[in-house]
Amino acid sequence: MANLAILFLLFSSLVSSLHAANAKKHWPAGGSTRFYDFKVQTLRVTKLCNIKDIVTINNMFPGPVVYAQEDDRIIVKVTNETPHNVTIHWHGVRQRLSCWFDGPSYITQCPIQAGQSFTYEFTMVKQKGTFFWHAHVSWLRATVYGALIVYPKTGVPYPFKYPYEEHIVILGEYWLKDVVRLEKQVLASGGGPPPADAFTINGHPGPKYNCSSNDVYKIDVVPGKTYMLRLINAGLNMENFFAIANHKMTVVEADAEYTKPFTTDRVMLGPGQTINVLVTADQPIGKYSMAMGPYMSAQNVPFQNISSVAYFNYLGTVLNSISLQAKLPTFNDNFAVKTVMDGLRSLDQVNVPKEIDMTLFVTVGLNVNKCKSKTPQQNCQGPNNGTFAASMNNFTFVKPPISVLEAYYKNIEGQFTEDFPGAPLQFYDFVNGAPNNAPNNTQALNGTRTKVIEYGSKVQIIFQDTGTVSTENHPIHLHGYSFYVVGFGNGNFNPQTANFNLVDPPYMNTIGVPVGGWAAIRFVADNPGVWFMHCHLDVHQSWGLSAVLIVKNGVGELETLPHPPADLPRC
Ligand code: C2O
Repeated sequence: MANLAILFLLFSSLVSSLHAANAKKHWPAGGSTRFYDFKVQTLRVTKLCNIKDIVTINNMFPGPVVYAQEDDRIIVKVTNETPHNVTIHWHGVRQRLSCWFDGPSYITQCPIQAGQSFTYEFTMVKQKGTFFWHAHVSWLRATVYGALIVYPKTGVPYPFKYPYEEHIVILGEYWLKDVVRLEKQVLASGGGPPPADAFTINGHPGPKYNCSSNDVYKIDVVPGKTYMLRLINAGLNMENFFAIANHKMTVVEADAEYTKPFTTDRVMLGPGQTINVLVTADQPIGKYSMAMGPYMSAQNVPFQNISSVAYFNYLGTVLNSISLQAKLPTFNDNFAVKTVMDGLRSLDQVNVPKEIDMTLFVTVGLNVNKCKSKTPQQNCQGPNNGTFAASMNNFTFVKPPISVLEAYYKNIEGQFTEDFPGAPLQFYDFVNGAPNNAPNNTQALNGTRTKVIEYGSKVQIIFQDTGTVSTENHPIHLHGYSFYVVGFGNGNFNPQTANFNLVDPPYMNTIGVPVGGWAAIRFVADNPGVWFMHCHLDVHQSWGLSAVLIVKNGVGELETLPHPPADLPRC
């Protein structure tokens, strides 16, 4: 009898620890758990004198802020009350051993269908700073986004003087059309997307747009105090400059990692990037514009040119006083972008991998495929009567019908291949053209190609912009990792002349590959899973500017991806 009881005790504790194992084993001791309930809901809003239903979380636009501290566990139950497929991605969260909760549709999960729910669970292992979450399916990110703010552990200060207040400033783009339908229409047309109907700051277009003089975001500031703005670019298809009239900004964090303080008149954020800046209210009392405008580095692309304006408003300002205008760089000021990038340095010396196990050379750019439609007028509106596509190493990524992670984990055949090339099939003058350019050949190949990486490999990736259609700055984002941006430059990458910073490069998750140039990143592949790597301009993603890295398990539980959660959505 006694033996039986002991056996039972042993067994039941085994069962419960097995249950908790996935969740808790790798969860740093001392962290709290933060629960959030996300209801995906349709909200009727009036903007720009137009009434429209938008998809939101909890009827909020922008969505609710998720707060946590470093090493906390975050649990978010997402329930879909709309007819659209949804997933949520936690942008910048490295998802240590929790790839199942990363969120990109058809990469790590099938979408949460109408009426269904899925609970995301992950730990902010050694991560803190400004993150954001967003829908990662169709173009729903246009309205389904919000901030994820992770504070240092209790008692751990910022490496700079504590700001008097902090404010979240999310840059976005707003369409009057239904964005799910818009993506389908754009893809069916073969041509480019229409520009957004407005840029927005925290959901507000600001006074330069029709019917929007009261649809403005505003921060009231006390003269003499210093404010921290947590800038997040959640926009869909544009990169943006941000500036404040008569005020300098000091960058102290980029992509949720501290940087050496760097003072500037403007910053540029591509979609997917976050930057924290300190701003001191040291100017005469007044109302100052904070403005967001376009950075468009490609040729012949129509874009929204009206800036979104918010106010940095001193207490004591006379009501209705005129605001001072912010000076934004012109839309194609590549030099302004370079200055910001040059200024980004990790706060401390960092441990950059010096010996490299695997180098990938990845071209990024657009393509034009030959028209295959019987109704070219409708479906082949791209350049030279073709259809727009995009690619990495000239392969257009095609999402499979089930998630790559599920297919990989369960050995389901035929969903993807493991032959994403480590270099383009042809080397040529990528920036200035021929042979992979008009009028020669602008065609891309299709495939669901992945690159398999051994656990623990020290990886270097050189991203090379191409001019197949037009050279352009692409914000390339890697899931599951942050990486050191060890170098970037103009023209074709040349290992002989490339200058690498192996001392204090910034540690980022999204890198704007310079227009007509290249960028080099390094990281240690120590997080097993299936990780999406893509351009964060959604239209480029829709056109296939992406690839998938599969990082194999290492040895033992601390290097092995746990089982999928029981409620993982089915396709
Ligand atoms: Cu913020 Cu794959 O995205």
